[in-house]
Amino acid sequence: MPVTIVVGAQWGDEGKGKIVDHLSEKVDIVARYQGGANAGHTVVIGETEHVLHLIPSGIFHEHVTCLIGNGVVVDPVALMTEIRQLEKLGIRVAGRLFISHNAHLIMPYHKLLDTIREQTGEKIGTTGRGIGPAYIDKFMRVGIRIVDLLDRDLFMKKLRQNISEKNTILRKIYGETELDADRIAAEYVEFDRQIDPYITDTSLYLQKALRENKSVLAEGAQGALLDVDHGTYPFVTSSNPTSGGACTGLGIPPTAITSVLGVVKAYSTRVGNGPFPTELRDEMGDTLRETGGEYGATTGRPRRCGWFDAIALRHSVMINGISRIAITKLDVLDRLGDIKVCIGYQHGGKLLKSFRSDARTLESLVPVYETFPGWNTPTGDMTSYDRLPLNARRYVEAIGTFTGTEVHMVSVGARRDQTLFMR
Ligand code: GDP
Ligand code: IMO
Ligand code: MG
Repeated sequence: MPVTIVVGAQWGDEGKGKIVDHLSEKVDIVARYQGGANAGHTVVIGETEHVLHLIPSGIFHEHVTCLIGNGVVVDPVALMTEIRQLEKLGIRVAGRLFISHNAHLIMPYHKLLDTIREQTGEKIGTTGRGIGPAYIDKFMRVGIRIVDLLDRDLFMKKLRQNISEKNTILRKIYGETELDADRIAAEYVEFDRQIDPYITDTSLYLQKALRENKSVLAEGAQGALLDVDHGTYPFVTSSNPTSGGACTGLGIPPTAITSVLGVVKAYSTRVGNGPFPTELRDEMGDTLRETGGEYGATTGRPRRCGWFDAIALRHSVMINGISRIAITKLDVLDRLGDIKVCIGYQHGGKLLKSFRSDARTLESLVPVYETFPGWNTPTGDMTSYDRLPLNARRYVEAIGTFTGTEVHMVSVGARRDQTLFMR
């Protein structure tokens, strides 16, 4: 049963969109399993850049069916905007996109609470898309699911209960104005009408597809180090981007998974707050940001940049069960002299060789680097892996060796044709 999970192996924005689009050429189904419109997955076709937030990155291949699984939190506004934008480009979405009836809805109060909490509490640096508050409600068992839209009375009852509670919080704790349940209900009734053709039991759909031996790519959003269980808590997102999340977020068994591909940027970036051992707060960091165009695809915020962290990646490989990796943005390093890779951390007079996921310890680590000579040659036009400069290949292969993974693909530019497969 051919299910490949594609996970971000670092702090998100590794280039999952590009890799999933590329691999989609040869699969039947691409399915998102967690997160929401906090994701920004870029696919470049020709000279045009497309940023997807909720719709799987397989949508640009006509033969691919795209699923949004039960583990995703769906923002109707973001979803409908995205569908319309794609349709404007002449991409057929109806009949090719299916959304789980069990997925939870992002409500206006989730976005509001996300923004307010960022202003008043510990600043995680969230995307403000309502993700944390929506997952809180899901696990509090008061969330509103897409299936609830089908029963107008039940929907109104749940909405009124939620709004009554949230209004009390908004007024009493944050001194904000209250929300109007009727106005919100009217918006969601209209959304129900628009979304109706897309709703199905996506778990059942996948079970049937697997019996028919169809091939599936499960597309992760964010990255392993932002995982609520395995990342740098509390500076994480509120879901499980790691491979385990694909089973619960799609309703498929672990036994259906055939492989896990990690998408790995050739250096490190992080957007938002939280520990980042190899961060470069100097000119080199600025060079990586400018050369790599490291600005958030969802919020436009500058991404923090740093050297590749092999210890963090090894943690990610282990947690996810990654056997193969796709290394992206190698071309961003083309003009650098020396390139560093973190191969350990100094901590309290000791050399650590494994990752720590508690934020306090991570903040006090001093990275130990191995230096690699650069290649000072543009790689963006290279058409096969063998043609890459020797030093570039040595760097790529060192990443594979450090992490005990097989390098499957190397990306040397944002376009589809700038993708090299290993022999
Ligand atoms: P995602 O969230 O993991 O899908 O990644 P993003 O789309 O947020 O960020 C990756 C950015 O790098 C996008 O602007 C891509 O177009 C771009 N990109 C992807 N692969 C490459 C590559 O190999 N080289 C360069 N220079 N840019 C790339
Ligand atoms: P893709 O799928 C990078 C970060 C935010 C913040 C933290 C929590 O494009 O790789 P949230 O809004 O999820 O509650 O924010 O997670 N974050 C991302 N960083 N790429 C993403 O998605 C991200 N989605 C969330 O910046 O630090
Ligand atoms: Mg992104």
